Amino acid sequence: MNPAVKQTASARQRLGSGAASGLVWVIRVILPISHDVAAVAPRVGFVESRVECDKLDHVNFEASSSKKPAEVARMFDYAAPSYDLMNALLSIGQDAHWRDATTAALDAKPGERVLDLAAGTGASSAPLLHAGADVFSLDRSEGMVAVGRARHPEIVFSVGDGEALPFADGAFDAVTVSFGLRNMTHPVAVLRELARVTAAGGRLIICEFSRPTPLWLRAAYYGWLRLVMPLASILSRNPASYHYLAQSILEWPNQKVVAGWLRSAGWHDVAYRNLSGGIVALHRGTR
Ligand SMILES: C[S@@+](CC[C@H](N)C(=O)[O-])C[C@H]1O[C@@H](n2cnc3c(N)ncnc32)[C@H](O)[C@@H]1O
Repeated sequence: MNPAVKQTASARQRLGSGAASGLVWVIRVILPISHDVAAVAPRVGFVESRVECDKLDHVNFEASSSKKPAEVARMFDYAAPSYDLMNALLSIGQDAHWRDATTAALDAKPGERVLDLAAGTGASSAPLLHAGADVFSLDRSEGMVAVGRARHPEIVFSVGDGEALPFADGAFDAVTVSFGLRNMTHPVAVLRELARVTAAGGRLIICEFSRPTPLWLRAAYYGWLRLVMPLASILSRNPASYHYLAQSILEWPNQKVVAGWLRSAGWHDVAYRNLSGGIVALHRGTR
């Protein structure tokens, strides 16, 4: 390409992503959607769910799940460079609030060893590092890890699979997964692996899209996933990822089923807390 044209194109790209970042910032400031109280208190706002999960719930879920691990990894490899920005735009800036709540709930102390599984580009790991923890970030997608290493040289990243964690039993004081469990083919096997690598008394926080509890919000949100996301995908360079995102959220079970999975994987003191009306839920467990 002619260097002058190339320069103009990259300047336009910079301007575009600058404008998008600006838009995210404006949305975060002017849109105070459900900044749920107690974001800074680790245990406040959680409710226990005593409903036992049908032992077959996860078997049925895994059998009906359309996720193929290699395809999912390829999709994230491709999405990696624009992942953080798209995340902020699609969540209309709420992602920052969800991350604050996750960090507060995990309550990582300086010097504690913390595993951030499915860490992606490190957006979920950075706040844990800022809290003073020794953070280990693991992800299956080499593309996401490459972007993460460039963006956060201070974070230790490795490539690996959540279903076969390359760590010794009881290696961590706390473990966490943000928006990653939904992408795994066998989430209960992953929850068991997380239990294996967590020391007795250690904590787990899962942050994941979930089922909105107010009916009006559920109808609006599911309508948005079914109608607007396919439209957005038509305009995108990566339509498969929009389709996958919407489908994986719609397929994902509700808060009580996921709480049952945690218990069946060996976690105690299991409870969940809805964020943004249940669009996202934090799940807590103790080893
Ligand atoms: C939506 S991103 C979340 C990234 C980050 N935690 C965040 O909050 O921005 C989901 C991540 O899960 C990773 N992932 C999916 N299946 C995995 C597996 N079996 N083991 C490890 N990571 C996996 C993907 O590669 C992707 O980076």
